Amino acid sequence: MSFFENTRKPVGLGGKIMVAMMNLGHSPVARWGLRFLELTPDAKVLDCGCGGGANIKRLLKKCPQGIVKGIDYSPVSVEKSKKVNEAAIAEGRCTVLQGSVANMIFAGDWFDAVTAFETVYFWPDLPR
Ligand SMILES: C[S@@+](CC[C@H](N)C(=O)[O-])C[C@H]1O[C@@H](n2cnc3c(N)ncnc32)[C@H](O)[C@@H]1O
Repeated sequence: MSFFENTRKPVGLGGKIMVAMMNLGHSPVARWGLRFLELTPDAKVLDCGCGGGANIKRLLKKCPQGIVKGIDYSPVSVEKSKKVNEAAIAEGRCTVLQGSVANMIFAGDWFDAVTAFETVYFWPDLPR
């Protein structure tokens, strides 16, 4: 497996290095995109394919009384997201779930916004 396949599903040591790199390398475009997202302070947000959790952290900052959940099918991504957001998880404002976006079960109207950064091109059935 090539190191760059860790962008699709981070695994093992290479995956741990990749999620740390993504948290830094994706930062400029993520911060640019988030400028256009208007959220109320108590918004509920889902970040799909959350990777290393840097965008969960940014979303939590944008909605200081809100809740942000992340989902990713890579255990390495979930572990890193939990570590990066451990304070918010302890406060009950953040949850990180392991699973595929193809099999999510959430109430359709629970979230005020759903985000996905640098991940949709990996999804098996984007329209669904
Ligand atoms: C290139 S990384 C981007 C991570 C993060 N969103 C960012 O911008 O730094 C793609 C992430 O999407 C996740 N991913 C890809 N397909 C997925 C799927 N079907 N369900 C859940 N997560 C998925 C991967 O495990 C990986 O963590």
